[in-house]
Amino acid sequence: MNQGLLGIQGLERPEIEVILDRAKYFQPLQNESFKRLDTLRGKMVVNLFFEASTRTRISFEIAAKRLGADSVSITASGSSVSKGESLVDTLNTLAAMRPDAIVMRHGASGAPHFLSRYLPTPIVNAGDGTHEHPTQALLDARTILDRRGRLDGLRVAIIGDIAHSRVARSNIHLLSKFGVEIVLCGPPSLLPRELAEIAPGVTLEHNIREAIRDADVIMMLRVQLERQHETSYPVGEYFRFYGLRLEHLELARPDVIVMHPGPINRGREISSDVADSQRSVILNQVENGISVRMAVLEKILQ
Ligand code: NCD
Repeated sequence: MNQGLLGIQGLERPEIEVILDRAKYFQPLQNESFKRLDTLRGKMVVNLFFEASTRTRISFEIAAKRLGADSVSITASGSSVSKGESLVDTLNTLAAMRPDAIVMRHGASGAPHFLSRYLPTPIVNAGDGTHEHPTQALLDARTILDRRGRLDGLRVAIIGDIAHSRVARSNIHLLSKFGVEIVLCGPPSLLPRELAEIAPGVTLEHNIREAIRDADVIMMLRVQLERQHETSYPVGEYFRFYGLRLEHLELARPDVIVMHPGPINRGREISSDVADSQRSVILNQVENGISVRMAVLEKILQ
Protein backbone atom coordinates (compact mmCIF):
# COMPACT_ATOMS: atom_id res chain seq x y z
CA MET A 1 0.00 0.00 0.00
CA ASN A 2 1.17 3.45 -0.91
CA GLN A 3 1.78 5.48 2.26
CA GLY A 4 2.57 8.84 0.74
CA LEU A 5 0.75 12.15 1.15
CA LEU A 6 -1.87 12.76 -1.52
CA GLY A 7 -4.07 15.39 0.10
CA ILE A 8 -5.28 17.07 3.29
CA GLN A 9 -8.90 15.99 2.88
CA GLY A 10 -8.27 12.43 4.08
CA LEU A 11 -6.10 13.39 7.08
CA GLU A 12 -7.35 13.54 10.67
CA ARG A 13 -6.60 16.58 12.82
CA PRO A 14 -4.10 14.71 15.08
CA GLU A 15 -2.11 13.54 12.03
CA ILE A 16 -1.82 17.15 10.88
CA GLU A 17 -0.80 18.28 14.37
CA VAL A 18 2.03 15.73 14.45
CA ILE A 19 3.45 17.09 11.17
CA LEU A 20 3.12 20.73 12.29
CA ASP A 21 4.84 20.00 15.63
CA ARG A 22 7.65 18.16 13.92
CA ALA A 23 8.09 21.06 11.46
CA LYS A 24 8.49 23.39 14.43
CA TYR A 25 11.22 21.13 15.76
CA PHE A 26 13.08 21.47 12.43
CA GLN A 27 12.80 25.29 12.27
CA PRO A 28 15.96 26.14 14.28
CA LEU A 29 18.05 23.82 12.08
CA GLN A 30 17.55 26.22 9.15
CA ASN A 31 19.64 28.85 10.99
CA GLU A 32 22.53 26.59 11.94
CA SER A 33 25.73 26.53 9.93
CA PHE A 34 25.72 22.72 9.68
CA LYS A 35 22.25 21.87 8.48
CA ARG A 36 22.47 18.20 7.61
CA LEU A 37 20.97 15.40 9.71
CA ASP A 38 21.48 11.69 9.26
CA THR A 39 17.87 10.58 9.63
CA LEU A 40 17.27 9.52 6.03
CA ARG A 41 20.79 8.52 5.04
CA GLY A 42 20.72 6.06 2.13
CA LYS A 43 17.20 7.04 1.05
CA MET A 44 16.46 8.43 -2.40
CA VAL A 45 13.75 10.96 -3.22
CA VAL A 46 12.84 11.64 -6.85
CA ASN A 47 11.12 14.96 -7.63
CA LEU A 48 9.10 14.74 -10.82
CA PHE A 49 7.60 18.06 -11.93
CA PHE A 50 5.31 18.25 -14.94
CA GLU A 51 4.51 21.91 -14.19
CA ALA A 52 6.61 24.97 -13.40
CA SER A 53 7.80 25.39 -9.82
CA THR A 54 10.38 27.41 -7.93
CA ARG A 55 9.52 27.22 -4.23
CA THR A 56 7.98 23.77 -4.01
CA ARG A 57 10.56 21.85 -6.00
CA ILE A 58 13.61 23.51 -4.48
CA SER A 59 12.30 23.20 -0.92
CA PHE A 60 11.53 19.49 -1.36
CA GLU A 61 15.11 19.04 -2.63
CA ILE A 62 16.58 20.99 0.27
CA ALA A 63 14.35 19.19 2.79
CA ALA A 64 15.50 15.76 1.54
CA LYS A 65 19.16 16.82 1.66
CA ARG A 66 18.88 18.30 5.16
CA LEU A 67 17.61 14.92 6.36
CA GLY A 68 20.60 13.20 4.76
CA ALA A 69 18.69 11.67 1.82
CA ASP A 70 19.73 11.89 -1.81
CA SER A 71 17.42 13.80 -4.06
CA VAL A 72 17.20 14.10 -7.83
CA SER A 73 14.82 16.30 -9.78
CA ILE A 74 13.47 15.97 -13.26
CA THR A 75 11.08 18.21 -15.12
CA ALA A 76 8.73 17.11 -17.91
CA SER A 77 10.47 19.22 -20.53
CA GLY A 78 13.84 17.64 -19.82
CA SER A 79 12.54 14.06 -19.66
CA SER A 80 11.18 11.49 -22.12
CA VAL A 81 7.69 12.87 -21.47
CA SER A 82 8.65 15.34 -24.21
CA LYS A 83 9.27 12.29 -26.47
CA GLY A 84 5.72 11.05 -26.00
CA GLU A 85 6.17 8.65 -23.06
CA SER A 86 2.95 8.13 -21.07
CA LEU A 87 2.63 9.10 -17.42
CA VAL A 88 2.37 5.45 -16.31
CA ASP A 89 5.45 4.44 -18.35
CA THR A 90 7.46 7.37 -16.97
CA LEU A 91 6.51 6.50 -13.40
CA ASN A 92 7.19 2.77 -13.88
CA THR A 93 10.61 3.64 -15.30
CA LEU A 94 11.40 5.76 -12.28
CA ALA A 95 10.02 3.16 -9.87
CA ALA A 96 12.32 0.53 -11.44
CA MET A 97 15.26 2.58 -10.15
CA ARG A 98 13.90 1.94 -6.63
CA PRO A 99 13.54 5.42 -5.19
CA ASP A 100 12.12 5.51 -1.65
CA ALA A 101 9.61 8.26 -2.47
CA ILE A 102 8.39 10.18 -5.49
CA VAL A 103 7.36 13.82 -5.12
CA MET A 104 5.23 14.82 -8.07
CA ARG A 105 3.43 17.83 -9.52
CA HIS A 106 1.05 17.34 -12.41
CA GLY A 107 -1.49 19.45 -14.30
CA ALA A 108 -4.22 16.79 -14.09
CA SER A 109 -6.31 16.67 -10.90
CA GLY A 110 -6.04 13.17 -9.41
CA ALA A 111 -2.85 12.16 -11.28
CA PRO A 112 -0.90 11.16 -8.12
CA HIS A 113 -3.96 9.34 -6.71
CA PHE A 114 -4.27 7.34 -9.91
CA LEU A 115 -0.58 6.40 -9.93
CA SER A 116 -0.51 5.49 -6.26
CA ARG A 117 -2.84 2.58 -7.06
CA TYR A 118 -0.24 1.08 -9.38
CA LEU A 119 3.07 1.95 -7.77
CA PRO A 120 4.48 0.57 -4.54
CA THR A 121 6.58 3.72 -4.05
CA PRO A 122 5.05 6.36 -1.73
CA ILE A 123 3.96 9.45 -3.65
CA VAL A 124 3.89 12.97 -2.23
CA ASN A 125 1.52 15.28 -4.06
CA ALA A 126 3.26 18.58 -4.82
CA GLY A 127 0.15 19.95 -6.56
CA ASP A 128 -2.32 18.16 -8.86
CA GLY A 129 -4.28 20.39 -11.22
CA THR A 130 -6.89 22.41 -9.37
CA HIS A 131 -7.31 19.71 -6.73
CA GLU A 132 -4.85 19.70 -3.79
CA HIS A 133 -1.44 20.99 -2.70
CA PRO A 134 -1.14 19.43 0.77
CA THR A 135 2.33 20.61 1.77
CA GLN A 136 1.38 24.20 0.91
CA ALA A 137 -1.57 24.05 3.32
CA LEU A 138 0.68 22.54 6.00
CA LEU A 139 3.31 25.27 5.64
CA ASP A 140 0.58 27.90 5.64
CA ALA A 141 -0.82 26.47 8.89
CA ARG A 142 2.69 26.40 10.40
CA THR A 143 3.14 30.08 9.45
CA ILE A 144 -0.21 31.10 10.96
CA LEU A 145 0.57 29.18 14.16
CA ASP A 146 3.99 30.85 14.44
CA ARG A 147 2.32 34.28 14.37
CA ARG A 148 -0.96 33.60 16.16
CA GLY A 149 -0.25 30.58 18.38
CA ARG A 150 -3.57 29.00 17.40
CA LEU A 151 -5.92 28.31 14.50
CA ASP A 152 -9.23 27.76 16.33
CA GLY A 153 -11.55 30.75 16.13
CA LEU A 154 -9.48 32.75 13.62
CA ARG A 155 -11.08 34.43 10.63
CA VAL A 156 -9.18 33.72 7.40
CA ALA A 157 -10.05 35.47 4.12
CA ILE A 158 -8.87 33.65 0.98
CA ILE A 159 -9.05 36.04 -1.97
CA GLY A 160 -8.57 35.68 -5.72
CA ASP A 161 -8.83 32.92 -8.30
CA ILE A 162 -10.38 30.33 -5.98
CA ALA A 163 -11.81 28.29 -8.87
CA HIS A 164 -8.42 27.17 -10.15
CA SER A 165 -6.58 27.03 -6.85
CA ARG A 166 -5.38 23.78 -5.32
CA VAL A 167 -3.84 25.93 -2.57
CA ALA A 168 -7.32 27.19 -1.64
CA ARG A 169 -8.80 23.68 -1.61
CA SER A 170 -6.08 22.19 0.61
CA ASN A 171 -6.26 25.19 2.93
CA ILE A 172 -10.04 24.94 3.20
CA HIS A 173 -9.76 21.26 4.17
CA LEU A 174 -7.05 21.93 6.73
CA LEU A 175 -8.41 25.11 8.31
CA SER A 176 -11.95 23.75 8.60
CA LYS A 177 -10.65 20.80 10.65
CA PHE A 178 -9.32 23.38 13.15
CA GLY A 179 -12.46 25.46 13.60
CA VAL A 180 -11.36 28.39 11.44
CA GLU A 181 -13.96 30.75 9.98
CA ILE A 182 -13.13 30.81 6.25
CA VAL A 183 -14.31 33.54 3.88
CA LEU A 184 -13.69 32.89 0.18
CA CYS A 185 -13.70 36.00 -2.01
CA GLY A 186 -13.36 36.59 -5.74
CA PRO A 187 -15.31 37.59 -8.83
CA PRO A 188 -18.34 35.33 -9.49
CA SER A 189 -16.62 33.49 -12.38
CA LEU A 190 -13.66 32.56 -10.15
CA LEU A 191 -15.67 31.63 -7.04
CA PRO A 192 -17.63 28.39 -7.53
CA ARG A 193 -20.70 28.25 -5.28
CA GLU A 194 -20.18 24.56 -4.50
CA LEU A 195 -17.04 25.42 -2.51
CA ALA A 196 -19.30 26.65 0.29
CA GLU A 197 -20.30 23.00 0.73
CA ILE A 198 -16.92 21.26 0.77
CA ALA A 199 -16.19 21.89 4.43
CA PRO A 200 -17.82 23.40 7.51
CA GLY A 201 -17.23 27.07 8.34
CA VAL A 202 -16.96 28.34 4.75
CA THR A 203 -18.79 31.42 3.42
CA LEU A 204 -18.58 33.14 0.04
CA GLU A 205 -18.24 36.90 -0.52
CA HIS A 206 -17.80 38.96 -3.69
CA ASN A 207 -16.85 42.21 -2.00
CA ILE A 208 -13.20 42.31 -0.95
CA ARG A 209 -13.83 44.90 1.76
CA GLU A 210 -16.43 42.70 3.44
CA ALA A 211 -14.15 39.65 3.18
CA ILE A 212 -11.29 41.49 4.85
CA ARG A 213 -13.36 43.06 7.63
CA ASP A 214 -12.02 41.73 11.01
CA ALA A 215 -9.82 39.14 9.27
CA ASP A 216 -6.89 37.71 11.26
CA VAL A 217 -5.29 36.32 8.10
CA ILE A 218 -5.57 37.45 4.47
CA MET A 219 -4.43 34.83 1.97
CA MET A 220 -4.08 36.16 -1.58
CA LEU A 221 -4.06 33.93 -4.67
CA ARG A 222 -2.59 34.42 -8.12
CA VAL A 223 -4.89 34.59 -11.13
CA GLN A 224 -3.93 31.25 -12.70
CA LEU A 225 -4.16 32.12 -16.38
CA GLU A 226 -2.58 28.79 -17.38
CA ARG A 227 -5.72 27.00 -16.13
CA GLN A 228 -8.28 29.48 -17.47
CA HIS A 229 -9.99 28.85 -20.75
CA GLU A 230 -12.47 31.68 -20.52
CA THR A 231 -11.44 35.26 -21.29
CA SER A 232 -9.92 36.76 -18.20
CA TYR A 233 -10.34 40.13 -16.53
CA PRO A 234 -8.13 42.99 -17.74
CA VAL A 235 -5.27 43.45 -15.25
CA GLY A 236 -6.28 46.98 -14.20
CA GLU A 237 -9.90 46.08 -13.63
CA TYR A 238 -9.04 42.96 -11.64
CA PHE A 239 -6.65 44.92 -9.43
CA ARG A 240 -9.25 47.64 -8.86
CA PHE A 241 -11.83 45.18 -7.53
CA TYR A 242 -9.78 42.29 -6.12
CA GLY A 243 -6.23 43.55 -5.69
CA LEU A 244 -5.07 43.91 -2.06
CA ARG A 245 -3.93 47.46 -1.24
CA LEU A 246 -2.69 49.13 1.94
CA GLU A 247 -6.02 50.88 2.55
CA HIS A 248 -7.72 47.46 2.85
CA LEU A 249 -5.57 46.43 5.80
CA GLU A 250 -7.28 49.00 8.04
CA LEU A 251 -10.49 46.97 7.80
CA ALA A 252 -8.80 43.86 9.17
CA ARG A 253 -7.62 43.17 12.71
CA PRO A 254 -4.67 45.39 13.66
CA ASP A 255 -2.32 42.39 13.79
CA VAL A 256 -3.53 40.87 10.50
CA ILE A 257 -0.99 38.87 8.50
CA VAL A 258 -0.90 38.79 4.69
CA MET A 259 -0.03 35.51 3.00
CA HIS A 260 0.51 34.39 -0.60
CA PRO A 261 1.76 30.99 -1.81
CA GLY A 262 3.75 32.68 -4.59
CA PRO A 263 4.57 33.41 -7.28
CA ILE A 264 3.13 36.88 -6.67
CA ASN A 265 2.05 39.16 -9.50
CA ARG A 266 2.60 42.68 -8.16
CA GLY A 267 -0.04 45.11 -9.35
CA ARG A 268 -2.38 42.29 -10.29
CA GLU A 269 -3.61 40.61 -7.08
CA ILE A 270 -1.42 42.47 -4.56
CA SER A 271 0.23 45.89 -4.43
CA SER A 272 3.97 46.11 -3.89
CA ASP A 273 3.60 48.12 -0.70
CA VAL A 274 1.46 45.36 0.85
CA ALA A 275 3.72 42.54 -0.38
CA ASP A 276 6.75 44.29 1.14
CA SER A 277 4.99 45.52 4.31
CA GLN A 278 5.49 44.44 7.91
CA ARG A 279 2.18 42.57 7.70
CA SER A 280 3.45 40.29 4.91
CA VAL A 281 4.66 36.81 5.89
CA ILE A 282 5.24 35.64 2.32
CA LEU A 283 8.93 34.86 2.86
CA ASN A 284 8.18 33.18 6.22
CA GLN A 285 5.93 30.83 4.25
CA VAL A 286 8.83 30.02 1.92
CA GLU A 287 11.10 29.38 4.90
CA ASN A 288 8.55 27.12 6.56
CA GLY A 289 8.26 25.17 3.31
CA ILE A 290 11.57 23.48 4.11
CA SER A 291 10.74 22.53 7.73
CA VAL A 292 7.28 21.24 6.81
CA ARG A 293 8.60 19.18 3.90
CA MET A 294 11.30 17.74 6.17
CA ALA A 295 8.54 16.65 8.57
CA VAL A 296 6.54 15.09 5.72
CA LEU A 297 9.49 13.24 4.17
CA GLU A 298 10.63 11.98 7.57
CA LYS A 299 7.16 10.67 8.34
CA ILE A 300 6.92 8.85 5.04
CA LEU A 301 10.43 7.48 4.81
CA GLN A 302 11.53 6.65 8.33
C1 NCD B 1 1.04 27.51 -6.09
C2 NCD B 1 0.76 26.30 -6.97
O1 NCD B 1 1.60 25.88 -7.76
O2 NCD B 1 -0.33 25.79 -6.82
N1 NCD B 1 2.38 27.83 -5.97
C3 NCD B 1 3.16 27.18 -5.04
O3 NCD B 1 3.26 25.99 -5.01
N2 NCD B 1 3.80 27.93 -4.14
C4 NCD B 1 0.19 28.67 -6.43
C5 NCD B 1 0.31 29.30 -7.79
O4 NCD B 1 0.95 28.77 -8.70
O5 NCD B 1 -0.28 30.38 -7.96
